[in-house]
Amino acid sequence: MRIGLFDSGVGGLTVLNSFIKYHPNNQYYYYGDTLNVPYGDKSIDELYKYVKNIIEYLKSKKVEMIIIACGTVSANLYDCLKEELDIPIYSVISELPKYIEERNYKKTLVMATNATINSHVFKKKLNNEVVEIACPKLVPIIESGNYNELDIVLDEYLSNLDGIDSIILGCTHYSIIKDYIRKKVGNSIDIIDMGEVLANNIKIEDSYKRIDLFFSKKTENLDRNVNKILKIV
Ligand code: DGL
Repeated sequence: MRIGLFDSGVGGLTVLNSFIKYHPNNQYYYYGDTLNVPYGDKSIDELYKYVKNIIEYLKSKKVEMIIIACGTVSANLYDCLKEELDIPIYSVISELPKYIEERNYKKTLVMATNATINSHVFKKKLNNEVVEIACPKLVPIIESGNYNELDIVLDEYLSNLDGIDSIILGCTHYSIIKDYIRKKVGNSIDIIDMGEVLANNIKIEDSYKRIDLFFSKKTENLDRNVNKILKIV
């Protein structure tokens, strides 16, 4: 199957990794909108404009399915895109309510961008107690590939874990720093990767393997970042 995935930058590559892991024999077309990253501080109108452009690109690649490999777009535009598109489109958030319920988590911390937290999508969709924390400093750090400030920033965001039994990485960029987050929170809290949950729960007809990456801007550390993140097996 020809599958389009998109994100504001390299974060969605973590979703692509999960899809390659569970559905290796497919043709993947990835669009990273490095020209307009970060999405988390943009208005919904701006996001919509960027996403329309990306969808045009993916359609020109004749994709048969689109995966929104971005929490911010999933949180704010999924319903509208689903209505407009004539091919199936999936959000990285859709499978999470079932996943959380099955595991009986009591209190979940959601780390995400400003735009995702402002949408309160997780509070609306999950049935357990949800604590939301906006982490706007993380995407610029991850996109730059310079982690000097990461430790201090994570301490700031993860200062109150009272009663938390699960953390949703509500922005696909955060999966890249999952090991750093794990180190801060210890092993008793489950860390949930949205791309992993979606890829593991979606049915796709296999074809053959192809991976095609496109970034709207060549940023300084892009190649190094992509090589570090993408696991082509
Ligand atoms: N990776 C995206 C997300 O999942 C976008 C983050 C951003 O560009 O601010 O929210």
